[in-house]
Order: sequence, then C-alpha cells, then structure tokens
Amino acid sequence: MSTVIEDIIARKVFNGRGEETIEVDVITMSGFGRTSAPAGKSRGKAEVTYYPQDDVDQALKKVEELLAPELVGLNADFQEEMDKTLHEIDGSKDFRVIGGNTAFAISLASAEAAANSYGLLLFQFIGGRIAHELPFPLGNIMSGGQHTSGKSPDIQEFLALPYGAESFLEAADVNAQIHRRIGETLRKKDKLFNGGKSDEGAWTANIGTLETLEALAKACEEVGNELGFECGLGVDVAASSLWNGKEKKYVYRREGKKRSPGEQTDFIMDLIKKYHLIYVEDPFHEEDYEHFAELTKKTKNCVVCGDDLFTTNSERLSRGLKIRAANAVIVKVNQVGTLTDAWETIEMAKENGYLPVMSHRSGDTCDWHIAHLAVAFRCPLIKTGVVEGTRIAKINELIRIEEFLGDRAKMADLKMI
Ligand code: PGA
Ligand code: ZN
Repeated sequence: MSTVIEDIIARKVFNGRGEETIEVDVITMSGFGRTSAPAGKSRGKAEVTYYPQDDVDQALKKVEELLAPELVGLNADFQEEMDKTLHEIDGSKDFRVIGGNTAFAISLASAEAAANSYGLLLFQFIGGRIAHELPFPLGNIMSGGQHTSGKSPDIQEFLALPYGAESFLEAADVNAQIHRRIGETLRKKDKLFNGGKSDEGAWTANIGTLETLEALAKACEEVGNELGFECGLGVDVAASSLWNGKEKKYVYRREGKKRSPGEQTDFIMDLIKKYHLIYVEDPFHEEDYEHFAELTKKTKNCVVCGDDLFTTNSERLSRGLKIRAANAVIVKVNQVGTLTDAWETIEMAKENGYLPVMSHRSGDTCDWHIAHLAVAFRCPLIKTGVVEGTRIAKINELIRIEEFLGDRAKMADLKMI
C-alpha cells in the first residue's frame, strides 16, 4: 500500500447551473480521489479567487504545467504539507495565481485518494473512530434574494431544521415532506405559481417574507406533529446582497422598505420572536461585526451564523470571536481554498463554543464530499438543500454513512438549541 501521488489530472466539467468548473483526479499507487468544485452566487468579498483571470482553462493549464510536476511524488497522506505546497506555489493571499477552486479540488481529491489507498471512507480517514455523529440537515424550502430572478421574497433562504429527529434519514424525510407541503400551499396561494425552483431546489414564488414564514411555520408544525417531534425554522438573510453602502440601508425591494442597521436589528429580532427562529445566517452585511454582536447578545437559543462575514477564514473568525459577533460559522471549503485552512477555522470555532455549519454552494456539482466532511469534522449542522440532484448527492451519501455506522450512528448534539 502506498499513498504517494503518481498523477494529477484536471478537466473542465459543469456545475448545476451549467457553469464551467474544475474537476481533479488524484491517483496514488494504491488509490484514487476525484473532486469537482462548486461556485457561489451570493459570494463573500473575502472569498478566495476561484480561477486565474476567471478562466477555468487557465486553471487547467496551471495544473498541467505548474502544479502536477510539483505535487506528483508528494504523499497524499500528508494533507498539511500538500496544502502548504499549494499556498507556496500560488504565492498570493487569495489563490489568484492557481485559483482557489483549483486548490480546493486538489486538496480534497488528495484526501480522498489517501483514504481510498487505505481502504477507508473519507469520513473515517479524517475523523477516526470518534466520527460517528450525523449532522442535522438545514433544508432550504423557499428561495429569494440573489438566488432567484423576478418576484420573490427579499430574504435569500427559508430553512427547516428538524432538530427532534432521531436519525439522519428521518430528518431528511421531514425536510422533503415540508418541501412538498409548501409546494402545495404555493399552488393554492398563487395562481401563477408554476412549480419554479432555484438552483438549490427550493421553491421560488411571488410571495413576501412574512407570508413565507407563516406558511413554513405551519408546515413545520403540521409535519412535526404528524411525526411526533420538533421541527424549527431558520433563515439565511444574505444581508450583504440587501445592503446599500451609500445609503447605509438594507433595501427590501419587494417589500418596498429600507432599513437602517438599527431597524434591521429590530426587524430580525421580531422575526426571531414571532416565528421562533432557531437559525439566522448573515442578518447583517459582511463588514458589520458590531450589529452581529448586538444581535447575538440579544438572542437566546438561536444560532446566529456568519457566512459572508467569516468566509471560512480563521483571521476573520478570530476578529469575530473577540466581540462575540456570532455563535456559529458556515464552512464552505472553497471560500478559503484548502482542507487545512477550513480545518483550522473549524477548530478555532469549536474551541470558542461556535457551531461549525458545513455547507454546499448554490452552484454545486454531484460531488458528495461535504457529507463526509460534516461527519469527520463533527459539524452538528449541514446546509445542503432538500431536493434536486446536486443536493440529493450529499443527502444520500449521509444516509449511506449512517447505515455504514450502524449502531454507532448518533445524531449530533445541538446544545445551543
Ligand atoms: P452561495 O450562497 O453559494 O450562492 O454563495 C449560499 C449561501 O449564502 O449560504
Ligand atoms: Zn449564506
């Protein structure tokens, strides 16, 4: 058995939006790993650059001419060395030379190749025997904001969180049932509703924020009651997309309202109270650590999560930790480039009592690795949609992991809620 890298091959494939993306194969003497990179639409400003000059072909050329010759011969088992080498070859702070998505695909494919060489699944290889907890799925039921076009709610994501479920399979089933039920509600509410869905498989319809939350609260309660356990609600405000820096206001187009940061705090607090929200992501724009901190202080039993705010970046997280800007952090490995970078952020989060939330991207592929990362890094929550092929790829992989773990499988501890 050997984990020495023999070859690295990169190719152009497509994500769920039909956008070009990079896929990388890492071949060791005894194993193989393959990863394709996702893409965000409502990206954080502090994310790494995806491709040199925004061009996947340039990235492929870099792999062939620059990266493969350097990386072949390294040991796929030494993740930190691999990721350090990627940083060194690139030389920039944001992976603009080789591309953050190139780094992401190589880093993850290499971990997979090492696991495969040992005959292990990725979550076992990274997480060892203590990795046996399944994350609760935050299911995206309704889309709005930048994830839709035309008339839709101003807030980007309306999420269900079946935190009373006893298994991952049960939780995924609840999310699918709630998704179906909301589809029926929308058909009754809006005669023009034609079953439209966003990239993440969530419904899109001409309906306002409050009306959506009413419908979702009802569906969660009904499905929860039928199955006999609690199901909560959450939102991803993705407030950077609402923020107008010149006016210093959050612009809610559909609602016809503009809110100052103070008014935004009151608005979000009202939503939390009225709909018993247990999860709120990016309620303020990506540089407003202070209002994040104020909201976190005011809330109880609510996960306040930073996505664009932290961009999986340990420096940005450490700035947030100083003022307790949140109590959770989104983990999107391709926001930061490598597995080691993401791991550092997760460790820092856990040491400080922040909940790491593993996440897909809106423009994802059928790559299922984040399912393994959520279990390996013991993230109590995962955001990976409810329906649609690129989402189901991760959901079904978690079902397989749960089955594989058998009696040892256990749902994560959601102390905070
Ligand atoms: P993105 O959005 O993948 O389009 O950046 C997802 C999110 O904001 O959580
Ligand atoms: Zn987000």
